[in-house]
Amino acid sequence: MLEGLKIAVYVSGGIAAYKIPDFVRSLIKAGAQVRVAMTPAAEQFVTPFTFEVLTKYPVLRDQSTYPDPVGHIHLADWLDLAILVPATANSLGKLVHGIADNEALASLLACNRPCLIVPAMNNKMWDHPATQRNIDQLRQDGYYVLDPAKGFLAEGYEGKGRMPEGQEILQAVMALATISQQEQRLDLTGQKIVISAGGTQEAIDPVRYISNHSSGKMGLAIAHVAALAGAQVTLVRTPSARDLAVIPEIQLIDVEDAHQLQTAMTEEVQEADMVVMAAAVSDYRPAQVAEQKIKKDKSQVSNDWHLHLVENPDILAGLPKDRALVIGFAAETQDVEKNATAKLVRKGADMIVANDVSRSDIGFGTDQNAVTLVTHQDKRCLAKTSKFQIAWAILDMAQSIQK
Ligand code: CTP
Repeated sequence: MLEGLKIAVYVSGGIAAYKIPDFVRSLIKAGAQVRVAMTPAAEQFVTPFTFEVLTKYPVLRDQSTYPDPVGHIHLADWLDLAILVPATANSLGKLVHGIADNEALASLLACNRPCLIVPAMNNKMWDHPATQRNIDQLRQDGYYVLDPAKGFLAEGYEGKGRMPEGQEILQAVMALATISQQEQRLDLTGQKIVISAGGTQEAIDPVRYISNHSSGKMGLAIAHVAALAGAQVTLVRTPSARDLAVIPEIQLIDVEDAHQLQTAMTEEVQEADMVVMAAAVSDYRPAQVAEQKIKKDKSQVSNDWHLHLVENPDILAGLPKDRALVIGFAAETQDVEKNATAKLVRKGADMIVANDVSRSDIGFGTDQNAVTLVTHQDKRCLAKTSKFQIAWAILDMAQSIQK
């Protein structure tokens, strides 16, 4: 998914540095070419040799040889995307003030490509007004700064300051790489976007349910692209989407079945500027949920078992359309465009993202899809591409719709 992308990872000296070799591996596994720079303090936590073995390239660091005599500029000119991770309070402060007293910071100062900053520090250091001022300044200067996660800190207590998990940072990298590859700027600053993802689970009894193959990957890609483009994002996710990594700034609401999803969406739409119903809602649910596990009934003459199903509410159709822009999906196996256009009208949506679920190479559970975006004014076909690219196209097209 990051094929051909040149990424420079700048490591500064926080305890979370011990996790960075693994993160670098995940970037390489995703197809990126990776080079590493380290501050002197970072070398206290992890050796440059580890990165050199992983990246097959020398690390840019103080007092060492580098393939180019002006190493810091060489690296800044080479990269497509920079990541400062973990970003200590000290390195953040220096970057804000243009202090370049080590090779890694000097290189970051020379970097004019998109840069993702991933702070990690003690919660009290994070909360300090000086750190918060620096974060605000970095965002104003055009850096993408991830929020740290809440959780168990190296100090032995809970707080906000943990580095997000590697897979979470990877989601942000994919979203940022997608945004920065486009000629058109996507700026969703100030917008509140609510996205549903995954397949609903309709309980039959305490151990069984009816569901579908939706993995939630499309909804999560939209959530990450929207968040990196500056939106305030709420993700309403079903159990099938809960194993997927999510960056800390995305607010999460967990639901199981269509009724819970409807309650959450109806509540969230009130404050939203955009709603994306990427969840695959089960059209029917068992009329009754058995309190105890249903046992096989051997006394019956036939082996058939009939489940009485009733229709679920159509959540998308029922959402108010006066304030928020409403986007739905259409999973079709035939007449994709015709059915999508009919759904657009029937459900009162502003856009329908139609995909052909009969194709096994794309769609459910995969990282790619091919879709047609249908609005009341326009239509746009996207050939097989990554779900992040599709997410960008959906959000970009949404920007052009006048409510
Ligand atoms: N949807 C919904 N509530 C439902 C069913 C679907 O909100 N009970 C939403 C989905 O989240 C999606 C869109 O409606 O955004 C279309 O879903 P799809 O399954 O393609 O359409 P259906 O309305 O179920 O129609 P059909 O299955 O007959 O094609």
